[in-house]
Amino acid sequence: MFSNWVIITKRPYFNPTMKQDSEKRSILVTSALPYANAPLHLGHILEHTQTDIWVRFQRLYGNNCIYVCADDAHGTPIMLKAEELDISPEELIDEIYQDHKATFEGYRISHDNFHTTHSEENKILSERIYNSLNEKRLIDKKIINQLYDTKKQMFLADRYVKGTCPNCGAQEQYGDNCEKCSATYNAIDLIDPVSVISGTTPIISESEHIFFKLSQLKDQITTWLDESHIQNPVRNKLNEWLEGDLKDWDISRDNPYFGFLIPGYEDKYFYVWLDAPIGYLASHLNYLSKNNDESKFEDFWEPDSQNEIFHFIGKDIMYFHALFFPMMLSNANLKSPSGVFVHGFLTLNGEKMSKSRGNFISAKNYLNTLDPDYLRYFMGSKLGTGVDDIDLNLEDFKQKVNSDLVNKYANIASRSARFINNHYKDTLSTELDTPELVEEFVEASIKISESYENLEFSKALREIMSLADKANQYIESKEPWILIKKEGNEEQVQSICTTAINLFRILTIMLSPVIPGFTQVAKDFLNEQETNWHSINDPLLSKKVNKFKPIITRIDENHINNLMGN
Ligand code: 2FM
Ligand code: ZN
Repeated sequence: MFSNWVIITKRPYFNPTMKQDSEKRSILVTSALPYANAPLHLGHILEHTQTDIWVRFQRLYGNNCIYVCADDAHGTPIMLKAEELDISPEELIDEIYQDHKATFEGYRISHDNFHTTHSEENKILSERIYNSLNEKRLIDKKIINQLYDTKKQMFLADRYVKGTCPNCGAQEQYGDNCEKCSATYNAIDLIDPVSVISGTTPIISESEHIFFKLSQLKDQITTWLDESHIQNPVRNKLNEWLEGDLKDWDISRDNPYFGFLIPGYEDKYFYVWLDAPIGYLASHLNYLSKNNDESKFEDFWEPDSQNEIFHFIGKDIMYFHALFFPMMLSNANLKSPSGVFVHGFLTLNGEKMSKSRGNFISAKNYLNTLDPDYLRYFMGSKLGTGVDDIDLNLEDFKQKVNSDLVNKYANIASRSARFINNHYKDTLSTELDTPELVEEFVEASIKISESYENLEFSKALREIMSLADKANQYIESKEPWILIKKEGNEEQVQSICTTAINLFRILTIMLSPVIPGFTQVAKDFLNEQETNWHSINDPLLSKKVNKFKPIITRIDENHINNLMGN
């Protein structure tokens, strides 16, 4: 179904026999930029976990992979939130920035850079892209009618006005579409409109707006879609939009607004969705300048460069990422994305997450109760290339983690390490007892790496857990705890446990993109820090390991109750 999805068929994803750096892929990866007006929720964590697993896999495999993100700091909701708190928007976004950064770090999200769209780099790049589009005559001006709140003295975006649906008469509907009959309409057509901000009746007022002439770019969009990595269901949706009436895109907003002024205007700002995705480039530029590598920016974004750029996003923002953004870039003579990876939403115990209905776990509060790797593992075990929603059923979560990570993975080490620690002065044998089993794991690593590459994390983890089952069966069949009791078996027990520890080591490397914290503890025990995916090929022999410490503890009912109580 996802035949067009498979990246490795298009380009080798790094052949370990190639030793030159120039043969590694150079990849820039992003997750969608969270709005700087509220703490992160677990939906953000799902997206960043998916991205982070892929990024960590790419790095482990030997590719150059840079992961950047930023806070999305502009727009009306941020301006109004700051007003409500009686602080400046700058103060608000600074506070939220610190909070977001700390939360992402808490989940072991390995951003190379976390920036903000309210930055000098982003201003310069937004102006540059706008000016290029203008030079290409892709910018237009039109007078439009909009609802205006005379009390608040501002034009009202669709979500700030409510009224009666002009189609079915349902009351209390927002300015863009009706939740009752699904009709879409213009806010000025609402019957009895009321401003959500001031409660007054808005008037209709004229204003000049600036448009990006997307309607002229259908052919270019089609070409971009043909050349990019896009899941089939997403491609179908985009084609549907393309076949419909592709409208020019309104990229301006009137004063008051929190954002960047449009060049040549004193009172018109770029709409937040214009400068938000440019924030990906700005964060990359900021990252390069921190490393005194600014000069690499132009080459990287050159339209024909060999670099790859992938964006991970939720299904609600496909339009911006697959239609507007690639066209802004290519028409400003910059490289457009190599692929856009879309995921579904996160539900909690089968229901939409909702703070007011009590079906909610805040991203920060989860961290007060449990290690992030449990959740990373659970999310990984659910993630594939589909765009269906993913359910965090807490009972499933507890069982899956306990059964896979504690009973299967960690158990291999806890059953074999104590023999090496207690009877062999922490030293592994010179030879494996069952090299063919280790070889089987090495062979399986090829398929598993392909699953990671193709974002089939659930498949990768299923395969890894079936290997863990084999490792446990091996230990059971060899019964080192019985053999050790008889004199003369010393060498054999040492090599059986060395085999088991080597199986555990391979699984540790394979799991490290998903559970980097737990696997770090395992690596400390193995006394080996500098592993990469290809280290799987070389067994660990005659080496000293460290004293074994439990790697993962079980999740119990109290943890689950605490999560929901938070
Ligand atoms: O939907 C959102 O949460 C936006 N803040 C995502 C922006 S992604 C990118 F385009 F900046
Ligand atoms: Zn209606």
